[in-house]
Amino acid sequence: MLKGNKVGLRARHEDDIPVLRAELYDDVVNASRAEGGPWRPITPGSKDPRLVVDDKEQGLVPFSVVELDGGTLIGTATLWGIDNHNRAAHIGLGLLPSSRGKGYGTDVVAALCHYGFIVRGLQRLQIETLSDNTAMLRSAERNGFVREGVMRSSAWVMGEFMDEVLLGLLAQDWKPGSKV
Ligand SMILES: CC(C)(COP(=O)(O)OP(=O)(O)OC[C@H]1O[C@@H](n2cnc3c(N)ncnc32)[C@H](O)[C@@H]1OP(=O)(O)O)[C@@H](O)C(=O)NCCC(=O)NCCS
Repeated sequence: MLKGNKVGLRARHEDDIPVLRAELYDDVVNASRAEGGPWRPITPGSKDPRLVVDDKEQGLVPFSVVELDGGTLIGTATLWGIDNHNRAAHIGLGLLPSSRGKGYGTDVVAALCHYGFIVRGLQRLQIETLSDNTAMLRSAERNGFVREGVMRSSAWVMGEFMDEVLLGLLAQDWKPGSKV
């Protein structure tokens, strides 16, 4: 398990799946804002790749996020789009509604940076998020990510086009343990 200060990132367990489906993916607004595509319902028991991990998929590493104290499931975290030539990848995360706003997101980003830079030897990590997602922007910036640009009207979300912010962090600029 990868450990932050308050969270652990571990493998997906079978009994995580109904909780994540109900609390993250069945929520039309949350899913539409987070996924960059149209919401669709996930049939219970289906092998939907957002929930069921394919260990042969080399470009994607999905984690379940738990509280270190007690091990309660609190969300998902992903390193995706792993490019071993350019040594770059994207990160993404989603916390259950009751676990937001408590500092966990900032800690999850830190643990994903450790995984990307130290475990995987990557050179660059990238995040794309909607420009009104203050919690995501701050979680990234607290870990040293910088805003590299705005992709205007790049996301169709629940009836309107929204801007996305592109943030990047390079290995040499990452300061583990320091929250900016
Ligand atoms: C985005 C998300 C992962 C952030 O995690 P979090 O645990 O809620 O964030 P934190 O508690 O670590 O807060 C980080 C910062 O954002 C601020 N913040 C948190 N919630 C906020 C909110 N609703 N509005 C404004 N600011 C907020 C905090 O005050 C903190 O700021 P600071 O560092 O300046 O003190 C989480 O809110 C979430 O899962 N949201 C829904 C899914 C989502 O948007 N995923 C990202 C898709 S790209």
